[in-house]
Parts: sequence; structure tokens; C-alpha cells
Amino acid sequence: MALLLAFGRALQIRYARGYQPPGRRRCRYRAGRLTAVVVTLGEITDGNREAVLALRVAPGQERFVGSVRSALADAAEYPHAKPWYRAVCAGGQPVGFVMVSWNVEPQPPEIIGPWFLWKLLIDERHQGRGYGLDVVRQVAELVRAEGATELLTSYVPQDGGPAGFYQRLGFVPTGEFDGNGEVIVRLVLP
Ligand SMILES: CC(C)(COP(=O)(O)OP(=O)(O)OC[C@H]1O[C@@H](n2cnc3c(N)ncnc32)[C@H](O)[C@@H]1OP(=O)(O)O)[C@@H](O)C(=O)NCCC(=O)NCCS
Repeated sequence: MALLLAFGRALQIRYARGYQPPGRRRCRYRAGRLTAVVVTLGEITDGNREAVLALRVAPGQERFVGSVRSALADAAEYPHAKPWYRAVCAGGQPVGFVMVSWNVEPQPPEIIGPWFLWKLLIDERHQGRGYGLDVVRQVAELVRAEGATELLTSYVPQDGGPAGFYQRLGFVPTGEFDGNGEVIVRLVLP
């Protein structure tokens, strides 16, 4: 069993292979054979909605991001922020959620853009496996393909928050803050 697990880990790859347009992806299990874990961004469907809504960050992280349910409520409430969202799936299983303001007309401080990483969460049971990193890289790739030259996001500047995560990805502060005092950071897309 230990050997099998080690073999499975060795097969784990961190980047989605074989790009498909975002609209065609689904979170799916490929049962019955040992397959590599692939991180994909899939639509939220009737088949995975409950599992996606059940995703949770650690209690101490709730001050940095809301729940998936509140993100979907925000998306419905602010359609002018042009929300684009996906379930983050690893090996076909929902493990996180991401939402982007997609090519939006910036109206600071309320709406930042044109390309703004609005929500990102990886369920606490799945953190620390490179999934968050993969998601941001995939989002950066997607928006760059749409003509974006930079991806913006913001974070709560408190201990235990995601500042180091974004720094690790190459985001740098723009020097601005959003309406809630969050630090706005930019990833230049070459
Ligand atoms: C922040 C978050 C998305 C990171 O996802 P993750 O899958 O756990 O992160 P990864 O495993 O991809 O980590 C990638 C790298 O960032 C580092 N990292 C991750 N979280 C970090 C943090 N909070 N502070 C500093 N570094 C961090 C990791 O050590 C890793 O570095 P390495 O590749 O050099 O080892 C996830 O922890 C999360 O959902 N947190 C709660 C919600 C949140 O803060 N969301 C962001 C809102 S703006």
C-alpha cells in the first residue's frame, strides 16, 4: 500500500496538460485506473455544486476569503463586475474555487480591473499541494490569451494571510489599496 501511495505521489503532476477551453471542462472522476492528478478549472454543474459549496478554508483563514456560497452571491449581485468562476478540481474532485473579474471596465475603488483575481480558495484539506499556484498560473495563462497584460488581485495584509503566496507567484504591490484597505498587487504577464 505504501509503495502504491508513493507511486501515486510520484505520478502527481502540478500542471494541467492538454489545454481545453474553460467552458468545456468538467470535474470528473476517471475511475478504475491509476491516473496522474491533474488540476483543472471546471464549470459548476448540478453534479458538483453541493461538493463545491461544501469546500471550506481553515477557521483562521475565513477573514481572508468568504465562502463559495458568498462568492456566488457576490457574482449574482455584481454582474457589472463581470464575474467568471470555476471549480478547482484535482483528479476530478472539487478542491477549491476561483473567481475573476473578466475584462471589466475598472471603476475603482469598487471595481478593479480589467483582469482581477476576485476570489481564490483551496479547501483546507487540500492546501499545500501546489494547487493554488497552479490555479493562478492557469488563470494568468487564460487571461493572457485574451489579451491581458497584467493580472491584479488584492489581499488582507494580516499575519497568516496570502501575502507570501502572491509574492511567491511574482505579484508586486501597485502601491494602491481597495475600498476595504486591501493591498492591490499586480502580476505582469509577459
Ligand atoms: C492562499 C491559498 C489559495 C494557497 O493555496 P495552496 O494550494 O495551499 O498553496 P500552494 O500549495 O500552491 O503553495 C504555493 C507556494 O506558496 C506558498 N504559500 C502558500 N500559502 C502561503 C501563505 N499563506 N504565505 C506564504 N506562502 C504561502 C507555499 O509554501 C508554496 O511555496 P513553494 O512552492 O515554494 O513551496 C490557500 O492557502 C487558501 O485558500 N487560503 C485561504 C484563503 C485565502 O487566503 N485566499 C486568498 C484570498 S486573496
